[in-house]
Amino acid sequence: NDLLLDPFIRPNALASDVKVEDIPADYLLISHGHEDHLADAEEIGKRTGAMIISNYEIVSWYANKGLSNGHPLNHGGKKAFEFGSVKYVNAVHSSMLPDGSYGGNPGGFVMEMEGKTLYYAGDTALSMDMQLIGKYQKPDMAILPIGDNFTMGIEDAVIAADFVQCDKIVGMHYDSFPPIAIQKEEAKAAFEAAGKELILMEIGSSLEF
Ligand code: NI
Repeated sequence: NDLLLDPFIRPNALASDVKVEDIPADYLLISHGHEDHLADAEEIGKRTGAMIISNYEIVSWYANKGLSNGHPLNHGGKKAFEFGSVKYVNAVHSSMLPDGSYGGNPGGFVMEMEGKTLYYAGDTALSMDMQLIGKYQKPDMAILPIGDNFTMGIEDAVIAADFVQCDKIVGMHYDSFPPIAIQKEEAKAAFEAAGKELILMEIGSSLEF
């Protein structure tokens, strides 16, 4: 099973070498309605028939576009799928869809599969709710936004890593637009000083955990 999270490829200058038409997907997980999280979801969903997992409003928006293979969640809700389970968790952000439609409330995903737990925060501020994830789910790896301006920055992401009790962090939501450009070495050093590892993946690279 291939899970694809928040595809933002064709309009993303950094991802110009990635071929959207070759990306496999059995499940498409969409955290919120912003263009830079779902730009390629319709195309990939139509080609692959992947199940769209998101909040009710976003799943309904895609159903109206003919993508009827969707599974809606709402905050706190967990559902078992063939590959494992997904829980939709709180994110502090906004969620309007590209055409101005209401995109529900934004979220993140806690995924449990093959004995591992992965937390994908989506776009969010630091929030006390992250402590619940640390207390009860203890992710093996967490994907956190670090670009500041529209989401947490590095300083708060280090605290978030502490809240979710995870030492292995993959950074996201940085460098794609000028306001969210980061200093990579400084970012890694900030996590290292807190006893944590910040992984900044090259586009097209892979990672096992
Ligand atoms: Ni956003």
